[in-house]
Amino acid sequence: MVKLSDLIKQEKEASPKEEKSTPMPPPKEHQADAEPDRIYNEILQYVERVMENIKGNGRFDPNEGMRLIKKIVQSPQVLEGLYQKALQIRDLEDVFLHHSVNTAIFSMKMGIALNYDQEQLVKLGTAALLHEVGISEIPGKIMYKNSALTEEEFQILKRHPRYGYGIILQQGKEFEWLAEIVYQEHERERGQGYPRGLKGEEINEHAKIIGIVDIYEALINPRPQRKRFLPYAAVKMIIGTQKRYFSSEIIKALLSQLSVFPINCWIKLNNNMIGKVIETNENQPLRPKLEVWYDIKGNKMNEGKVINLADSPLLYISDPLYEEELPA
Ligand SMILES: [Fe+2]
Ligand SMILES: [Fe+2]
Repeated sequence: MVKLSDLIKQEKEASPKEEKSTPMPPPKEHQADAEPDRIYNEILQYVERVMENIKGNGRFDPNEGMRLIKKIVQSPQVLEGLYQKALQIRDLEDVFLHHSVNTAIFSMKMGIALNYDQEQLVKLGTAALLHEVGISEIPGKIMYKNSALTEEEFQILKRHPRYGYGIILQQGKEFEWLAEIVYQEHERERGQGYPRGLKGEEINEHAKIIGIVDIYEALINPRPQRKRFLPYAAVKMIIGTQKRYFSSEIIKALLSQLSVFPINCWIKLNNNMIGKVIETNENQPLRPKLEVWYDIKGNKMNEGKVINLADSPLLYISDPLYEEELPA
């Protein structure tokens, strides 16, 4: 039986970092970009400054955030480096700042899955980076309360997208698009969200992406009361519990970009064959190498058959499976 805890252990043991080949030295003009750590910290500090400024004179420059995000969008290598970093960060102290930066990084990955151009990616990334500015107006005793919120406190917390809208609009009329996305980050597909209960096409797609990534980012990171979820388990949980809250395109983009299948996890293919991941594929995380043990009718095979999904364009993963879900 494969338990989630086993998967976590296997993921650690598989230490994918060691499997990476030595990267080619970057071309000279990109050398400054080939530093995910530096860029990550630069963005983190920007968000920190924004939050301080909001509490001070209320002014900050969204264009500065856009410039930082643009640097990432212009280099797929940088985005990939930041993505790896965002998956590894385990900071319980500055949770809020990391949450903002990670949400921006994961949102841009989603935008790429949705074929966004550079301009759209910059807008999406910037909105994700600033999606929680309205939290600055929520009293600390609600934000950092250790026990469950009362209904009244929850109603106060739910005002933060509207506060965020106001704060961003104060920076200039030209940021109305940004303010509007932030206003909508908690709206959900069938009107289940807040503050306005918008539905379907009334909700900006950037806000839908930020909304789902927001949940994903929280799940894959530890919280004082719980351990972190593996990306694979987090995506599975979102699909299981949040499907009604998001459109199928958004769910699909999440699945294609942000679920990592670790070695030894069982997966079902679109032709119903079931196999175990034996080698991950860094460039195409959804196309690992498998050892297939169940045929298209669900019958156990006598010998495992190796299939490299990277070489099998017609096959794709339809579902991750726990061992207890395997056919009897
Ligand atoms: Fe929020
Ligand atoms: Fe958030």
